[in-house]
Amino acid sequence: MRSFDGRELQRKDLDKLRMYASEIENPFGIPVEFVFLDAGMYGLSSPVLSGEKYFVCGKVAKKPYADVAFGFAFEKLVLYAWSLGIGTTWIGGTMKRSAFEKAAGLKKDFMMPCISPLGYPSGKRSLQETVMRKAIGADSRMAADKLFFEGNFSTPLKGPEKEKTEDLIEMVRWAPSAVNKQPWRILYKDGLYHFYEKKDRGYQNESTGDLQKIDVGIALCHFVMGAEERGLKTEASISDPGVPTSSDMEYIVSVAMKES
Ligand SMILES: Cc1cc2nc3c(=O)[nH]c(=O)nc-3n(C[C@H](O)[C@H](O)[C@H](O)COP(=O)(O)O)c2cc1C
Repeated sequence: MRSFDGRELQRKDLDKLRMYASEIENPFGIPVEFVFLDAGMYGLSSPVLSGEKYFVCGKVAKKPYADVAFGFAFEKLVLYAWSLGIGTTWIGGTMKRSAFEKAAGLKKDFMMPCISPLGYPSGKRSLQETVMRKAIGADSRMAADKLFFEGNFSTPLKGPEKEKTEDLIEMVRWAPSAVNKQPWRILYKDGLYHFYEKKDRGYQNESTGDLQKIDVGIALCHFVMGAEERGLKTEASISDPGVPTSSDMEYIVSVAMKES
């Protein structure tokens, strides 16, 4: 959501967001810190937004899996915000990064990959938002048989295994991603769901880490939260099945699901 109604964020909503953010965990045990900032006080804005009054920034120490952990944790906050009727947009590119990093007090050896506005929907998309969404095809997603596989990457997930996870597949399919690239691929093998990153060039740098690993963290969040909503217990582990892949694919993490 990029068009807000210009209202200040209500104190009670901000308190709930702060409380929830302080308790967010992720499967990698890497702390992600959230900083809430008044846009007017710090002179913060983004050219793709209108009517926003508040931002949240996320900070994480630079280390292996920091980007995936960041994606998981920030998405949890985004989903919680929407449950309160507060709109958000993941923003990793279209902002004056140095101004946000300064306002959030970013320190050496930490990164602040993305920020989000926090506000109430205006009810009508601005022209710039409509144009942008159209340009990146933001209202559509890839088909499930391009994202979920079984045994190897030539065989789409089908049959009972697919039926069992149809709802989780939809939750992953509709997850947000940078430029709507949906760079996650999931391979079901030996009872585990293995998450991979399908890399494009230009998404990795010092300030943001790997934006597409963040996307995989977001997809993982949707999968795990969807499973938990169904009453299943999930366990994430690093269990690379060693399946041959193309050189643009990187194994990230595996998830087991059990009846709890
Ligand atoms: C890691 C990440 C970075 C993003 N960066 C930007 C950004 O800089 N500017 C922007 O307008 N949208 C950004 N987006 C939002 C995506 O464009 C959006 O999620 C995608 O087009 C799908 O649209 P939807 O989330 O409304 O379904 C980003 C999303 C993610 C997950």
